[in-house]
Amino acid sequence: MTHKLSSTVTQILNILNDGTIHTGIDIGEALGISRTAVWKVIKRLQKYNIDIQSQHQGYHLKEPLILLDQKKIEPFLSSKKISLEIFESLESTSHYLKNKMPLKGQTACLAEYQSMGRGRLGRKWLSPFGRNIYCSLSGVFKKDLGEMSGLSLAVAVLTANALESFDSRIKLSLKWPNDLYINNQKLGGILIELMGEAYGNCQAIIGIGLNVNMKDIKLPDLDQPWISLEHIVLEKLDRNIIVGYILRTIFEGLEVFEHKGLEAFLPEWEKYDLLRNQKVSLNTGAGKVSGIACGVDSQGFLLLENALGSIQKFSYGDTSLLKD
Ligand code: BTN
Repeated sequence: MTHKLSSTVTQILNILNDGTIHTGIDIGEALGISRTAVWKVIKRLQKYNIDIQSQHQGYHLKEPLILLDQKKIEPFLSSKKISLEIFESLESTSHYLKNKMPLKGQTACLAEYQSMGRGRLGRKWLSPFGRNIYCSLSGVFKKDLGEMSGLSLAVAVLTANALESFDSRIKLSLKWPNDLYINNQKLGGILIELMGEAYGNCQAIIGIGLNVNMKDIKLPDLDQPWISLEHIVLEKLDRNIIVGYILRTIFEGLEVFEHKGLEAFLPEWEKYDLLRNQKVSLNTGAGKVSGIACGVDSQGFLLLENALGSIQKFSYGDTSLLKD
């Protein structure tokens, strides 16, 4: 379901954020809407598993929720012509932008919840309401598809830069091709979809998923260890500021990528590289190969040294560290 984030939802949650009980009548009077309209919004929010209890005295929200807010993000984009859309719920932010193609200018889209969030290699991306960042943005490049292979690494470097400059307690590693890691646990991931256009141009939809306020949530067992920023800084974070840092850094960095390609990002990739000199397994879909990771080449392909000492390169797949 596609729902724009409405000011009614934001205002109701702002009222409930004080942690006390509020009646539907009180909320309705504060917002100039009926008690039934309040009830309808609360019912919808409860469907996202938000812990709003309906008691006979009124509604009670256990944990405060700071929602996404266009006004807080826009100052980060002030010098740029970027159109930003924020949704309460979408199937997937990347899917939404893809359906709007061809996009003329630079566009970014955020959602509080994704019903069918997508990860790399056909995986699902779990997207609980109001806690994390689910963001997609579009870029047009005067490059043909063959020159775009390094984009996913460049975006990973830019996202890591943005997070580290947001808060110096955050120290990232990157797992090829573009997983964001902290302390060997997955913090987020990037999904790049490329479409060729006429005259050697191409469009990219860049999807970023980042765990932010996830310390007090129970999730179904995931196939790998994960972490959120709240686990590092030990407080709930305002996602708007983080999104601001990320969008500003990425849109500026995409201009560098357009002119200089991946080469401009390789020294920083080396700094963040989680796999370098480690024994690594790579699942290519067609099978698994293992070897010692020796960084990446100028196109961003993974270099693996096999047992015979020869180096092979790989353009896609899923990597994991092998324990000795
Ligand atoms: C990965 O598998 O590591 C990549 C995950 C990318 C998830 C993001 S969330 C925003 C955007 N919309 C999606 O459906 N996927 C990406």
